[in-house]
Amino acid sequence: MDRRIATSFIVGSMLALLVGCAKDEGPLYIPKPVDPSEPIDTAYFNTEVVPIFIQHCWNCHPDMAALDLGETEAYANLVNVTSSNHAPAIRVVPGDLDASVLWHKVSGSDTYGLNMPPNGTFLSAQEVQTIHDWIEQGALNN
Ligand code: HEC
Repeated sequence: MDRRIATSFIVGSMLALLVGCAKDEGPLYIPKPVDPSEPIDTAYFNTEVVPIFIQHCWNCHPDMAALDLGETEAYANLVNVTSSNHAPAIRVVPGDLDASVLWHKVSGSDTYGLNMPPNGTFLSAQEVQTIHDWIEQGALNN
């Protein structure tokens, strides 16, 4: 093989590898920089967070881990409730992302077993951000 062909072969394989890896990864969580002049983008539980649960989680979560993420049950099943599989940790601690099992599961931290959703589907960065903001803003039933 002459040098040019060899080089383009190597570059080509590296590119293929890069593209392949990028495709397999879930969305990375990238926190938004905080600009004090920007108004706070309020995250609403009932109109923004619940629809994420219905679309991505509810097929497994009326049943799995005694956690019902349905429209009428989700709030009462999450906020200040002790985790069934990861006790004594709490599912959602208002204002405290690091103490919230839900946050670790959807941000892919690997701290509490499987990351959610575990079936090869992914939340978008925007959806992860909405859950982040909702917990950080006090996990209100708003
Ligand atoms: C394919 C089925 C499936 C889907 C979809 C799914 N989960 Fe789960 N989930 C599980 C299973 C199984 C467990 C129990 C194992 C564990 O805790 O890791 C679990 C556990 C959890 C727990 C821990 C509950 C506790 O108290 O122990 C949370 C929180 C959770 N899931 C949130 C979610 C969220 C949010 C979504 C959607 C973004 C989601 N799950 C989607 C199957 C699923």
